[in-house]
Amino acid sequence: MGKEILWSEILTFKRSRYQEFDNGLFRLTNLKNLQVLFMKTNNELKQFILGIPKAELHVHIEGTLEPELAFAIADRNNLSLPFNSPEQLRKAYNFNNLQSFLNLYYVASRVLQREKDFYDLAMAYLTKAHLETVRHAEIFLDPQTHTQRGVPFETIIGGISKATIDAEKEFGISTKLIMCFLRDLSAESAMETLTQALTFKEWIIGIGLDSSELGNPPERFKNVFDRAHQEGFLTVAHAGEEGPPEYIWQALEALKVSRIDHGVRCIEDPELVEKLKSERIPLTVCPISNVKLRLFNTIREHNLKKLLDLGLCVTVNSDDPAYFGGYIFENYVAVTEALGLDKNDLYLVARNSFEASFLTQEEKERYIAKLDKYMSEYRD
Ligand code: ADE
Ligand code: ZN
Repeated sequence: MGKEILWSEILTFKRSRYQEFDNGLFRLTNLKNLQVLFMKTNNELKQFILGIPKAELHVHIEGTLEPELAFAIADRNNLSLPFNSPEQLRKAYNFNNLQSFLNLYYVASRVLQREKDFYDLAMAYLTKAHLETVRHAEIFLDPQTHTQRGVPFETIIGGISKATIDAEKEFGISTKLIMCFLRDLSAESAMETLTQALTFKEWIIGIGLDSSELGNPPERFKNVFDRAHQEGFLTVAHAGEEGPPEYIWQALEALKVSRIDHGVRCIEDPELVEKLKSERIPLTVCPISNVKLRLFNTIREHNLKKLLDLGLCVTVNSDDPAYFGGYIFENYVAVTEALGLDKNDLYLVARNSFEASFLTQEEKERYIAKLDKYMSEYRD
């Protein structure tokens, strides 16, 4: 019982504190203690999941903004949030669908104004990811959310990229950044954002598409994705989260993306499933997100295991962990417990995460070799 309480505390990082240092930056403290606590579980499968080397391919940096950090940053910027406390903000996390979540997500994102805000946000996420043995992270950012409010593009990229450099030095975690267009805004706004991004090409590997899916089909963004390809960006798109399989087809055929974010509704279209399988087009699935946004009533009803058994390249990710109450570790645990994944399934999911990443072939092989070593050395 004691151990279980400890686990839930660790998982929500309630024990960690954002401490303000002399240089005005916030960092998670007590890391050593956290790591020790992490290892103190008597649940063997959880230990296995915690330690397995993995990549995270679907996480929105704005979705990692924990209420405590949002309040700390708001304070630092002399801003107020429309909530009295972090607890009150957390109480508002009760969503009916994607839009009800996005409404709150965009409000909280407004506290992010200066380079150090983006730095602190990214560093907090990368610290947590490291503690959960994420060896490589591909992180989404939504520039329009911030540029619309007058925050310069370089402030956003500057803060996030500096955190990725420091995290690589400190933890050895590798990262790539994927800039998403908000699909509820116009294609012209997306094109303008792409033009702004060209100056920061060395920091941005890919282009994605997110925000309200229903009524905003991918084909509206064909021209801007064509241009992104011409400029050498890799591409992904959220599709088949709330939207129909037709949106996945459009993302593949009109936008020519190499990965589908979510994509769980592909199961409604056998021809599409066959295409995803035969071309090994990865799906970045986010199980806890899908339940919190009511795509599935419970994790037990989630189709991740079905998709895996159909032979698709399925990965497990956290999406917006601060809002949905689970980072990557908790997502792996949730599907393992609810859908009965075994160690072979977990190996496959972790292997898929490296295979589906935007790393070079050589880097992928290096990570997969480490994963294989973990498997061969792991003792029950
Ligand atoms: N932006 C942040 N999280 C998202 C999600 N799950 N779907 C679409 N847009 C998002
Ligand atoms: Zn997402």
